[in-house]
Amino acid sequence: MATKERMSSRELGLVLAQQLLDVEDLHYGLWDPDLPLSLGNIALAQQRYTEMLLAQVDMLLADRPAPRILDVGCGTGHMLQLLVERGYAVDAVNPSAQLNRQVRARLAGMTPTDSTLFASDFGSLPLASCRHRYDLLLFSESFQYIPLAEIFENSPVLLKPGGWLLVCDFFKTSAHCDGAEGDRSFSGGHLLRSFYEQLSTAPFTLCHDEDLTPRISPNIALLDEWLTQRLLPASRSIDQYLRSSYPYLTRLVKWLSRHKLARLRYKYLSGHRNQAIFEKYKSYRLLVLQLDQQP
Ligand SMILES: C[S@@+](CC[C@H](N)C(=O)[O-])C[C@H]1O[C@@H](n2cnc3c(N)ncnc32)[C@H](O)[C@@H]1O
Repeated sequence: MATKERMSSRELGLVLAQQLLDVEDLHYGLWDPDLPLSLGNIALAQQRYTEMLLAQVDMLLADRPAPRILDVGCGTGHMLQLLVERGYAVDAVNPSAQLNRQVRARLAGMTPTDSTLFASDFGSLPLASCRHRYDLLLFSESFQYIPLAEIFENSPVLLKPGGWLLVCDFFKTSAHCDGAEGDRSFSGGHLLRSFYEQLSTAPFTLCHDEDLTPRISPNIALLDEWLTQRLLPASRSIDQYLRSSYPYLTRLVKWLSRHKLARLRYKYLSGHRNQAIFEKYKSYRLLVLQLDQQP
């Protein structure tokens, strides 16, 4: 699929999060006990996450000559830039037109690199020309957006023998769809069980599998607080203004979009998007997979 100009609701969520929180990254942060949980520390928590991933990349590629990385779902291109600055050759694939504008601006501001930005879904990469091109595929919170079948079919083609998949993302736990309170408040993520099942028949070895959920989930508490303490009162004020200024039009628009509004209210403003619900229904993992030498 070519670059999307029409923005999906998921993409809108990412772009809004970046704009409202004024951050360069679109991933969660790592919150360890020494870092006070506050909005002001989000960028620092994200930096810790980034440094953790960069250290993984350095370790995995230490013995490889002139390694090339593919940053899958590169967001604003921040990680791409840091990797290039570390001396890696890096390409990126990203379907979001809005984010790709930021990535291109970032690339243009850097000393010339041979980075290619593929403005497409991971599943639409030109496999023939990228065959065995990469030492490492990085999925920083992009794994959940890509069908597992696509990942396990395309990655062995893209990677050099013995190459790495480095994944940092959340998955659905087996509690998913149990119908209890808060079930499906957080969308996204592959079922962890399905991931392991599909991995068992793929030409990869799981070398590292770490549960980062407790270090990531404080982020949820923070965002929940922001949504309920800031966004909710702000949306009530706007609603009040619209109802008093344009009563008929407001009622009509609200009635027409009532189902969507109810879904959004449940998802974002009902208080179900909290840390405990996240920890029950999601498992945030750092995964390192190595492609067999002879896939
Ligand atoms: C949560 S953001 C993470 C961005 C970045 N990797 C980071 O860590 O800040 C998810 C990214 O995945 C991208 N994405 C969504 N669907 C994708 C797909 N099918 N193939 C590749 N990237 C995808 C989005 O456009 C976005 O850039």
